Amino acid sequence: MKEFKLADNTIDNKDYKKMINFLKERKYLNQSKFTHKFQEKFSKFLNTKFSVFVNSGSSANLLIAQALLEGNYLKNKVVVLPAVSWATSVSPFLQLGYKVILCDCDKNDLGLSVRNLETICKKFNPGLVVVVNVLGHSNNFKKIFNLQKKYNFKLIEDNCESLGSRFKNKNLGTFGIASSHSFYYGHHISTIEGGMVSTSDRNFYNILLAIRSHGWARDVQEPFKKKLEKRFKVDEFKSLYTFYYSGLNVRSTDFNANLGIEQLKKIKKISKIRHKNFERYKKNLKDFWNQNSNLELISSFGFATFVKNRLQVFKYLKSKKIQSRPLICGNMGQQPFWSKKIKNKPSLPNAEFIDKYGIYLPNHANLSSKDIDFICKNFKKYARPIYF
Ligand SMILES: Cc1ncc(COP(=O)(O)O)c(C=O)c1O
Repeated sequence: MKEFKLADNTIDNKDYKKMINFLKERKYLNQSKFTHKFQEKFSKFLNTKFSVFVNSGSSANLLIAQALLEGNYLKNKVVVLPAVSWATSVSPFLQLGYKVILCDCDKNDLGLSVRNLETICKKFNPGLVVVVNVLGHSNNFKKIFNLQKKYNFKLIEDNCESLGSRFKNKNLGTFGIASSHSFYYGHHISTIEGGMVSTSDRNFYNILLAIRSHGWARDVQEPFKKKLEKRFKVDEFKSLYTFYYSGLNVRSTDFNANLGIEQLKKIKKISKIRHKNFERYKKNLKDFWNQNSNLELISSFGFATFVKNRLQVFKYLKSKKIQSRPLICGNMGQQPFWSKKIKNKPSLPNAEFIDKYGIYLPNHANLSSKDIDFICKNFKKYARPIYF
């Protein structure tokens, strides 16, 4: 029986050969010129000025959270995060001592509920709002920008599930000061493990470069480094082991970057197939949730839907070798790592609904229209729709 995996490998035989040749030809594998090349190519693809390659999407979020603090970017340490997101979208902010407020999700695009966000802004005056583009979908950026003007917060995008999606002629991942991306297995492209932070803010870029590697200034741009040396009265020798920021080590390697360069060549094709599959699902499952796809390109990560009898559907699909998953974290407020730490439970009705009824189905570039039809036929045999 054919297996329908939720996510599939994007690394093919040609990539494996490239990796083998890379190892044969090079002695130095650590972060160096291939990392720079991958970062440049990624920035060009996304249309941002700068990118910083790291060892995972989670590290990208951690690096952003720390750079915002070290660079004094925020008016306060209150951050709004989506209740429907990923554990490591949220946990870096808890670990770094931010006050985290969970915001409910929107029924159309699974992004932030703008209504709930405004209520939170009025009450807490947050310094930072993080949006997560869920499963290839966008957020309602027009309305979020209106709130940003009114309440003056900084905006960050976690784009780990949506690389390649385009909204109003712009790539997702270009709407805030910085965005994070994941290149884990089964994501749109893969560097085995890997992630990226993208930004068009030069100052922020330099702080990211420093914090990525211990907090030293070896990797930062020359004028930025000179400024630091002057400010802290450090000579050329001392500068080698001077740590200007409270740093991390979230670097990746040139080996992974070289793979990333090859993978990036495929992203447009991969996104188009994911979009086509998404449309096929929508047509097949029109009696289920009619989700928003008014993006020029939805680089869909999986097809989200809602059913009354989720466990039964999951088990039946499993028996047919079709993988499915809960709709990412469901309601973050219900996750053990959150509820162990934070006792008050905010009202998040949409996230609650997702927690109870959300399920998502496979989408990746190795699925054909025939595969999608097969998945949908089996899904519909047992699934009882519930209105969201
Ligand atoms: C929204 C979101 N953010 C962050 C991550 C973390 O990425 P990584 O697995 O590369 O650490 C994921 C992982 O799937 C994710 O879905």
